[in-house]
Amino acid sequence: MLRTHTCGELNSSHLNQTVTLSGWIQKIRNLGGMTFIDLRDRYGITQLTFNSATLPELHKKIEDYGREWVIQATGTVIERSNKNKNIPTGDIEIVVTDIQVLNSSLLPPFTIEDESDGGDELRMKYRYLDLRRNPVKNNLIFRHRLALEIRNYMNKIGFLEIETPFLIRSTPEGARDFIVPSRVNEGEFYALPQSPQTFKQLLMMSGFDRYFQIVKCFRDEDLRADRQPEFTQIDCEMSFVEQEDVLTTFEGLVRHIFKTFKNIEIPQIERITYEEAMRYYGTDKPDARFDMRFVELNSLTKHREFKIFNEAELVIGIVAKGCASYSRKQLDELVDFVRRPTIGASGLIYILCQPENYKSSVDKFYAQEDLKRIAEHCQAEEGDLILIMAGKTEKVQKQLGELRLEMGTRLGLRSKGVYKPLWVVDFPLLEWDEETQRFYAKHHPFTSPKPEHIPLLTTEPAKVKANAYDLVINGSEIGGGSIRIHDNALQKKMFEVLGFKAEEAEEQFGFLLNAFQYGCPPHGGIAFGFDRLCAVLSDVESIRDFIAFPKNNSARDVMIDAPSPVTQEQLDELKLKVVSNEKNIT
Ligand code: AMO
Repeated sequence: MLRTHTCGELNSSHLNQTVTLSGWIQKIRNLGGMTFIDLRDRYGITQLTFNSATLPELHKKIEDYGREWVIQATGTVIERSNKNKNIPTGDIEIVVTDIQVLNSSLLPPFTIEDESDGGDELRMKYRYLDLRRNPVKNNLIFRHRLALEIRNYMNKIGFLEIETPFLIRSTPEGARDFIVPSRVNEGEFYALPQSPQTFKQLLMMSGFDRYFQIVKCFRDEDLRADRQPEFTQIDCEMSFVEQEDVLTTFEGLVRHIFKTFKNIEIPQIERITYEEAMRYYGTDKPDARFDMRFVELNSLTKHREFKIFNEAELVIGIVAKGCASYSRKQLDELVDFVRRPTIGASGLIYILCQPENYKSSVDKFYAQEDLKRIAEHCQAEEGDLILIMAGKTEKVQKQLGELRLEMGTRLGLRSKGVYKPLWVVDFPLLEWDEETQRFYAKHHPFTSPKPEHIPLLTTEPAKVKANAYDLVINGSEIGGGSIRIHDNALQKKMFEVLGFKAEEAEEQFGFLLNAFQYGCPPHGGIAFGFDRLCAVLSDVESIRDFIAFPKNNSARDVMIDAPSPVTQEQLDELKLKVVSNEKNIT
């Protein structure tokens, strides 16, 4: 070993011991006769001291050293006169007697400090240096601990971790696949799995009645702070269960995680139906840290001459407590917020419930008693601000949902360190797509309709509810799952409703339909977004901070410069032709 101790473990119990440390130079300070080096490794920082009077040659040598050089130092542990209470090694320092350079370093392109001066792109390009910084390093350590704890918990309750393949068949359902050409099967392609969904179902058929896997998934979709093209799921499946069993089992896991990592006892997780979530929060992933529910105002607003309300399918409002004193500027900011292209509303109507006189942006159309009636209906009190939006149902729900989050942030209602998990249940089975004029599975095509809704599949598919559920924490979709179809005929019916011809269903999912005929147990499961779970537990928005080598917003790894063109030989071997590629193929 090139060290006897790490840079994070020495303290006054080691006084007078001779030790050897190896690590990176964080900082060198030359104070005349004395030089100090902060030596850093994964475990911490230890101060090394050099006295020019006693070891002049050594002192001279280190004048050439720079930040991030890798050195090995041997010396004696002594008590520090100037103690640093902020670090665990702050009571001691090492008086160095010998030093070896293990490697020199170029000057890093940004400072390796908790607060770095490097921008995002630069830090991503030199991600291996970024990972030396405490905040990022600690995120990865947290990720490791969380994965380990989950594995242990799942093992304890009888789940087996089983790996499933990465080179699978492409299917048109769901997000876009990443495809991989096969050399030995000319003209054919594998797809990288968007999730191990069908495999975990097949494992249930094999009798592994409790499966889990912490597994990479791949989806070629547009990126956001909480989306990466390759991400990790805690993928789980159980046999002989109903929805209630799955929810109870994984509520146990969620509680255990919060207790272990946050020392928080989560009370029983509240449940809300998809319909309620949309009606009250305008989203299927409500941030339940604060209330501010939508109030429907159609009947109260439609009796006057105001066209916008009269013509709207839905008029809804929220109450911002104590905001009746908002200035013109603050109100304009809110109007600008909803007009952003990402939200796309044309405007916003407000009522300031000021003492005596309620003021609104629609005073021309609504008298004081109208405004007071609206306020009463919303349970707004004097001092509150009512924000109202109108339009097509889905659109206006989404827009007011965004404004609700914005108001929650402005009013400090989305506090860090507060966690409100929710089960969203009773999702619709299907979703109609105007563009392609067909139904898509809201969750995936293997999700079971509620048994009592099966007849509706033929008559009114849009009304069919599924035995499907999501786990939402603080407005982030952390997990999703369902009870699956385990009956061949019902699965065929589902494919039919999704517009598959019998032959198409057979060609793409024949393996599953076939397997259903060999004694398939009732089963169901869930998958959690592991990167998202790391982020939400750490009160961070971006999952990138918890991925060692993430992609940027254009799905590129700027460090290794991927994706990249491949050689003509590789293409020839795969019998592929690049039709248009602006970059030269080398
Ligand atoms: P679903 O598609 O809902 O379900 O995915 C499960 C969870 O994975 C996370 N997630 C993502 N995280 C980061 N980047 C992404 N691009 C991304 N996409 C999804 C989310 C999500 O809740 N096979 C089903 C699960 C099942 O039915 O058991 C599935 O994959 O947190």
